[in-house]
Amino acid sequence: MRRRQFLGSLAVAGLVPRIGLAQASRTTLTAAAHRQQILPVGYPDTEMWSFGAAFPGPELRARQGDRLRLTVENQLPQQTSVHWHGLRLENAMDGVPGLTQAPIAQGASFDYDFSLPDAGTYWYHSHSKSMEQIERGLYGPLIIDETDPPDLDQDITLMVDDIRLEQDGSLSAFDNFHDLSHAGRIGNLWLANGQIDPAYPVKRGDRVRLRLINAANARVFTLGLQGFDGWVVALDGMPLNEPQTLPEELVLAPAQRIDLILDVTTDSEEAFLITFERDGGYAIAHFPVSGPSKAARANKVILPPNPDFPIDLANARTATLLIEGGAMGGMRAARVDGQELDPRELAGRGLFWALNGVAGRPETPLLELSLGESARIGMANNTAFPHGMHLHGMHFSEVLADGSLGPLRDTILLNPQDTREIAFQAHNPGDWLFHCHMLAHHQAGMGTWIRVSA
Ligand code: C2O
Ligand code: CU
Repeated sequence: MRRRQFLGSLAVAGLVPRIGLAQASRTTLTAAAHRQQILPVGYPDTEMWSFGAAFPGPELRARQGDRLRLTVENQLPQQTSVHWHGLRLENAMDGVPGLTQAPIAQGASFDYDFSLPDAGTYWYHSHSKSMEQIERGLYGPLIIDETDPPDLDQDITLMVDDIRLEQDGSLSAFDNFHDLSHAGRIGNLWLANGQIDPAYPVKRGDRVRLRLINAANARVFTLGLQGFDGWVVALDGMPLNEPQTLPEELVLAPAQRIDLILDVTTDSEEAFLITFERDGGYAIAHFPVSGPSKAARANKVILPPNPDFPIDLANARTATLLIEGGAMGGMRAARVDGQELDPRELAGRGLFWALNGVAGRPETPLLELSLGESARIGMANNTAFPHGMHLHGMHFSEVLADGSLGPLRDTILLNPQDTREIAFQAHNPGDWLFHCHMLAHHQAGMGTWIRVSA
């Protein structure tokens, strides 16, 4: 494990401001430009766009069963909207312009108001021009506490990201056809909570809940922890029935989350969150360790389950999703607004990807389901790039090779040439987006939707 060359000047504890959301009150979240030091001290600062004048935006924190009431004020030079990623909320509050709401115009505001049926680790982010707006900083953590939270010493949220900055501190240009047609916008600087290798002090024997959120545009992180023992207890917000012993590598596609319960077991002075790269592992955050050695608690934590919507595999409606496009041999003709375009014409419109031969959100949904019906979607990634497919409004399970159901998730990673099948119960009425969370891919055509009729 190596330190990055930048680490002459160590960042200090990267605490994210927190907004506790009281049940009855309404909070205002303003989206606006602000300046923040992202590059190491001594380099220029960066103009970011953010919620609440901080990057990442403030941690929104509420309790399961409460309502969230937030006014989003748009002081950006563009229209925007906010998506509450992973929440199984009312469709009208889902934040997708053109599908669930009108965009929030410059200078305007929008009142979000929805119930919080599930505990867990979620996040909020812009859903307008998201490849640009999320990269500029318009995201933050959204943590819903269990009504009876587990006994812990610390609860730490780390939003991992990679950002692409120039030496002068500015964000690299966004009109980049290479990003749209290849892996997406991959950054040149790893960040945890907006900082290079921030420090989170812990004590020996502490029990820590670590909530990892991948807020990157396109980077699939492979993460590891050094100095801890513990368990994976939740994926994409949803508790695992059976916690899994901490593996050496945690793969986190864009938008995915992993909750860990960790005991600080190291005898050394520091513990680490590491990102594994081709040439080795690098600290993306570290944990100065103090205190005398202390036996860690041995008992496993099993989080209480969220409301369950059982899947009826035998009687499910089925659909298939063929993922095509991209550079390295994937470009084909595709339909746009009912018109067949060849790859050159598609590229002229900034489109490089297609789902079932359609580039961009189609007029008709991939599936029309009645409330309570189950659905299965088989997906084939016929491209040279990984894709993280995200379904809004409902969590799904992967149908595993032996026919059993995997853990609930809201985003699934398909590596090149993977075929995977997901299933879910259509328990939430509305029009729900289903798209690649590699944001350049979504912008360049990889999005469809599903209708659930009440
Ligand atoms: Cu995290 Cu459609 O979004
Ligand atoms: Cu993709």
